Amino acid sequence: MKTVSSIADLRQQVKEWKQAGLCIAFVPTMGNLHQGHLSLVKKARELADKVIVSIFVNPLQFNNKADLSSYPRTLDKDSEQLHSVGCDLLFTPTADAMYPNGMENQTIVTVPNMDDKLCGRHRAGHFDGVATVVIKLFNMAQADIAVFGEKDYQQLLLIKTMVNDLNLPIDIVGVETYREASGLAMSSRNQYLTESQQNQAAGLYQTLLSLKQKIEQGEQNFLELQQQAMTILTELGFTPDYVDIRCASDLKQAKVSDKQLRILVAAGLGKARLIDNIACNLD
Ligand code: PAJ
Repeated sequence: MKTVSSIADLRQQVKEWKQAGLCIAFVPTMGNLHQGHLSLVKKARELADKVIVSIFVNPLQFNNKADLSSYPRTLDKDSEQLHSVGCDLLFTPTADAMYPNGMENQTIVTVPNMDDKLCGRHRAGHFDGVATVVIKLFNMAQADIAVFGEKDYQQLLLIKTMVNDLNLPIDIVGVETYREASGLAMSSRNQYLTESQQNQAAGLYQTLLSLKQKIEQGEQNFLELQQQAMTILTELGFTPDYVDIRCASDLKQAKVSDKQLRILVAAGLGKARLIDNIACNLD
């Protein structure tokens, strides 16, 4: 596995692969990799001849500066793990290379209808930061395919919408959430939890499963179900931001006639803010 930090070196390698007619898959990350990230790299490995992974803790998407400075940076270990799952090229740009004129002078990409709902409402400017860095990384890596996790479901839809709206020549592939044996979705932020909070955190997935079961059994009062789940999470020691039952394709509030639903949750626990979601198909 080769590691490059400069955009010129990345472009040179990509140019050679393109000239050889190879298919390239790309997995953008912020590092501190766990099995969830590695499952995306394995998927990319299956789909393409060459796999590029980027590690860049993107300051533009952090609305909380303390969260940015404490974000875990573990490049050596990440690099070993990427090597072991067959990544071909690791791209580790600096913030100066990504935002040479400063973040305040950066052209921003805004995907509509994101800031008014779910994580968009709770993290002002976050999704503009994600869309902007991802389109920049896409333009640098020029891959045929990019792989994202369903763990960040709103982010996955944001990227798909941006690619569609701006006619970007790249296929977006979603990979299902990788979980601990307890059901807790793997996340870099889980390490902010104490051992007992890690056990407690499994309650988030259990709450999603029980909501899904109720909907599948025919309960239709979504607002009441959401409210009940918020109460349960509070009783379990979480500080819930939202529990929402949404239409899976556009994240609008689900109607009783919708068949493909997504149940999404965000909640604070100790020092971490955790998010999770599951599909609920009524066909
Ligand atoms: P990061 O949080 O590092 O996540 C990188 C990718 O890994 C995302 O596509 C995310 O959905 C996926 N992922 C994280 N945990 C997962 C899990 N348990 N199972 C499956 N996939 C998982 O998301 C970002 O970085 C950034 O916003 C980024 C897209 C890199 C832009 O800066």
